[in-house]
Amino acid sequence: MGNNPNKLTIALSKGRMQDAALAILARAGIIFAESELNSRKLLISSTDGRFDLVFVKPSDVPTYVGYGVADAGVCGRDVLLESQADVHEPLDLKIGRCKIAVAGKREVVGLDYNLLATVRVATKYPRIATEYFHTKGVPIEVVTLSGSVELAPLLGLSDRIVDLVETGQTLKENGLEVIDIITESTARLIVNRASFHLKRVEVGMLIADLTEVLKS
Ligand code: PRP
Repeated sequence: MGNNPNKLTIALSKGRMQDAALAILARAGIIFAESELNSRKLLISSTDGRFDLVFVKPSDVPTYVGYGVADAGVCGRDVLLESQADVHEPLDLKIGRCKIAVAGKREVVGLDYNLLATVRVATKYPRIATEYFHTKGVPIEVVTLSGSVELAPLLGLSDRIVDLVETGQTLKENGLEVIDIITESTARLIVNRASFHLKRVEVGMLIADLTEVLKS
């Protein structure tokens, strides 16, 4: 990680938001070499040596930042809601826009919930799903999956799913429809609470630079 005590480590997930997040960082002057970005390295340094970037699973971004091994991170509001990590969330980066929705097969769309029967819900978001159905007074059994959630209703593993919908293509191609939208999500800059104070200057500059980029 180098010897620069003022260096900031940023956690970022590969995949969905990676390119848009790297583009925003680049516009804020935080540049990483293409050869490093295209490598399988999980920790790379910016060309000016001011930042380290660590690539982690989306749901692990709040964990790395919460524990302070990354000072900051880019992570979806969906992931934050699910993790309930105790981190600062100073900026909405307005990328990675998607919805968290309840979906199911066409035949269950529009059906009222039978409040006496437990609904089985497959999801990567057990906390969000539980809270949503709890608020409605609908008893549920959560089946927690870590991917390909749309398969669950097709195979009879669940009646409904709670999942991320971006273009809607995955739902469509698997014969599923949105039943209700629970919430919207965009990527957020998150910052470790201790780093926020101990690296006040560096974190402040990062937030200021990103804020400028978002204005333009
Ligand atoms: C997410 C989500 C949906 C899909 C939605 O999965 O869980 O499956 O993307 O995107 P769409 O509305 O644009 O089709 P992801 O690609 O992260 O993979 P996963 O199934 O392994 O979680």
